[in-house]
Order: sequence, then C-alpha cells, then structure tokens
Amino acid sequence: MSNFQRILSLGFVPIVALFALQYFSPETFGSFQDAIHPYISNTPLSHFFPDLLPPRQEIPIIISSTTHWSHVEKVAKIALVVAELGYPVTFITGKAHEDHVKNLHPNITFSPMVGHDDKMSEEDIKTWLSLRGLEQELFAMKKVLVDGMPDQQESVQIQFQEFRKKYGNDKPLISMFDQTLSGNLPVILGGLGIIPDANIGISLAPLALQSNDTYPFRWGKTPETGPDARELHFKAWQDYLNEPHTKELNGAWWKKLKEMGAVQENYPDIFHAMNVLPQHLLQFGIPQFEFERSDIRNDIRYFGGFKNVRGQEKVPKLPAWWDDIAQAKKDGKKIVAVSQGTIETDPKMLILPTLEALKDRDDMLVIASFVISEPEDVPNLVVPKNARVAKFVPYNLLLPLTDVLISNGGYGAVQHCMRVGTPMVVSGEGQDKANTNAIVQWSGVGLNLGGRKPGVNKLREGIKAVLETDKYKKKAMAMSREYNKYDISRVVDGKF
Ligand SMILES: *[C@@H]1O[C@H](CO)[C@@H](O)[C@H](O)[C@H]1NC(C)=O
Ligand SMILES: *[C@@H]1O[C@H](CO)[C@@H](O)[C@H](O)[C@H]1NC(C)=O
Repeated sequence: MSNFQRILSLGFVPIVALFALQYFSPETFGSFQDAIHPYISNTPLSHFFPDLLPPRQEIPIIISSTTHWSHVEKVAKIALVVAELGYPVTFITGKAHEDHVKNLHPNITFSPMVGHDDKMSEEDIKTWLSLRGLEQELFAMKKVLVDGMPDQQESVQIQFQEFRKKYGNDKPLISMFDQTLSGNLPVILGGLGIIPDANIGISLAPLALQSNDTYPFRWGKTPETGPDARELHFKAWQDYLNEPHTKELNGAWWKKLKEMGAVQENYPDIFHAMNVLPQHLLQFGIPQFEFERSDIRNDIRYFGGFKNVRGQEKVPKLPAWWDDIAQAKKDGKKIVAVSQGTIETDPKMLILPTLEALKDRDDMLVIASFVISEPEDVPNLVVPKNARVAKFVPYNLLLPLTDVLISNGGYGAVQHCMRVGTPMVVSGEGQDKANTNAIVQWSGVGLNLGGRKPGVNKLREGIKAVLETDKYKKKAMAMSREYNKYDISRVVDGKF
C-alpha cells in the first residue's frame, strides 16, 4: 500500500497536492522520490489521507545544526520532537555536543562534523579577539559561514550517501537543517553532491528575506508605511548590497560557492539565501512578531516555541536568595531582570548600568545574571541593596515572575518573554539583534533603546516607561496568547 501520509505530513503539502491525488493514486508512484516532489509545499493536508503513508518509524530524518550551543540547544529540541513522533533521526553537529545529542532519545543517532566542527580554529579565535565591532563579526561570519562550507557539506553528504546506500531511492531523503549551517546550501545552488528530496530549513532568527516592505535585515529599522515606502525600502536594499562589509561577505561566499561547483550567473545575498533556498522554512516564533511582507516566499511555517526537553526538566540549582523574589512580590515590588547574552557578555553594556540606574528604587527587586562569569569575578561590581546577582538564573522560573526583562535582544530570550507575556527593554546590535529589537518596539511588546551600551539614563527612563503604563504588558500578554496556539509537534509533522 502506498506510503504517503507521513511524508506528506513532514513535507508541507500544497493545495495542488489535493488535486493531484485525485488523479494519481499513490500506487502509481514507483518510489517516495516520485511521490514526494509534487506533494511537498504549502499546506499540510495529511489529515485528508489518514492511512496512506508508511509508519513514521520507516522514514528516517537527517537533521544538522551549527555547532554553537545556542543553535544546538534549539535544534536538538526539534530533533527530540521529531523522534518522539516516531521518526528515526540522525543528528549532525560538532563533537562538543555529542553527549547532549546522545542523551536526547534512543532513536536519535549522533553523527559528528568533520574538520573544525564548523567552528573557528585557535588561531582564528586569536585574530577574532583582536578585532572589534563589525570587523569582528565579519571575520567570524566569513570563517564560519563561508570557509566552513566544504567541511559542513562533507559532514552532511556523508550521511546522505549512507542513506542512499541503505535505501536507494525507496525512501525519501529528508534533510532538516539549521539554516546557518551554510554547507547545506551549495547543492541547492547546483553544487556537486546529493540533493535531498526535501530540504527543510530551520530559522532561529527573525526573517532576513529581501523585501520591498522592509529595510535590510541587519539595519534594525522599522519599515516605512507612507506612499513611498516600497521605493525607500528597495533603495535601502541596494545600498545595503553595496556596503563594503556586505560586498566582502557576499563576495567571499559567492567565490566559495563557485569553487564548490555551484556556478550561477547571479547569487543571492547570503542571509536572504538562508531563508529562501530551503524548500520549506520552519520559523521559530509567531507571525505576529514579524514585519509584514506582501512579497514573502511561500511555505514558511512558524512553530511558536519549544517544549521542554526531557531530562532537562529536573529542578535547576537555585541561587541562595531565590526566596527573596517571592517576598518582594508579596511586598508589591516590581521584579526587574537583567542579563547579558552568550556572545556579548560584557556586563558594562547592560547589567552594571541597570544596577546603577535602579539602585535607589526600593519598590523594585533587580535580578542580574552574568551568564559566563560568577559575580565575584566581575570587576567593579557593587551590588545595591535592591539587587540579587548570580552567574545563572533559571529563566523558565524567573520570567513568569518578572515585570520587565532588560536584554540585548537575543532571539531566544525575546521569544521566551513573549511566550510568558513579559515586556522588555532591549538594547543590542550584532547578528540578528538590531532587527529583533526593532520588531520588539514595532510590535509593542517592549522598548528598543538602540545601540549596545544605552547608558544609565536611557535605561532608567526606559524601564520606568515600561513599568508605568500597562500597554507593553498588555501587548506581551496578547502575544503570549497567540504563542500558546502553536504546537511544534503538529507543525513539524504537518498536522494542524
Ligand atoms: C525507537 O524505534 C523503534 C523502531 O522503530 C521503536 O520500536 C521504539 O519504540 C522507538 N523508541 C522510542 C523510545 O520511541
Ligand atoms: C522590489 O521593487 C523593485 C523595483 O520596483 C523590483 O524590481 C523588485 O522585483 C521588487 N522586489 C520584490 C521582492 O518584490
């Protein structure tokens, strides 16, 4: 009997598939290969064909992630969802995360990256540390996103070859990949190697799609709304593509693609490409937290947030002062949380100025977490009496109690706030942060102070503004209600 349902449910099926199925009985397809192509795209219709596909246990899925923990952590949660649905999973990432991956689920098999694990070498890290700002970021992007491509490609192609050896064309080769693992892209652009039957990109950042309805992704600007908006955006994109840093990164990327056999007349911008080249895009978050685009690609599936990973639900270690939070709430105080990120870790950016800004507010309790260092190792740290500090605070417990979060706008933290309905004050640049923070402000769930180091006064005023009106809180709660409508298992499996 034919074997569609599970594939359909994984690939996201277009309306045309419904019609196609009326004409082609599934038996007429010789293989999944034949079957999958016309069927994967827009709308999940698997529930129309409840008994057609093979059991999920017979459809292996290959998942790959960039080696950075903030990616592995999230992609691993998706892999777990996929495995819990019944699909056997091969998970490709750097060896540093072998134990984590192996402990996820008995049907998730770890496969290591070859070469540098898609990370920088020691020597590169030295160079990287000697650089600052945009130069530093550009260097890292060239190393990881461009120079890392051949090793990344080999890492996934090894598994694709294994798959073909084992199953020939009898099963569809389905690859779900973290879109920043750019080694998945050359074959899609014509490079040598096996092209999976279904490419499903995972986007863990705001959309970077080139659009006439938005400014370039990295500019962090709210879209225009006037009559000349499209023209302004279009011009901005041209300017962006001609910026020296963009040209350098894209130029290096295009050169590498050519070397890898992906010869094209024109190549897309690298960030746009990540969003647009996979056949399907699984997008972290909800559409309400994204600028509106009339020219958006089809087949973007938002999955809301993540479920808790089994084995990580154990009670986390709480700081000794944890009960002070409950007491402060009982006393009617506001809880203000402030954290640095995993990439921009300097407490002088946000934590120290926030402590300073609020030090006289005995109607607030400030909770600061440093992420990479113990408080005693933070130079010049003076802890005011209304503050509590720790290296790590369990945010899944803290955020629901928090009245406002101060953050640099890491996408994961921002999504987490929206899931529980906590408003934000954000300030950060680099990677996707300027864009995320522009969306924070635009969507009304918080205030964007801009820059990387907003300073004491702007922080004080921003926090005050968010706490003294209820409009941010109301908007955050509305987002939270939207968020709760999503179930990642159903999105990934194609059943709504
Ligand atoms: C792992 O896969 C096997 C074979 O399909 C299946 O019988 C088993 O139930 C799966 N294990 C778990 C924990 O889901
Ligand atoms: C944006 O507008 C320009 C100029 O009108 C046009 O050439 C281009 O195709 C548009 N881009 C998109 C993504 O619609």
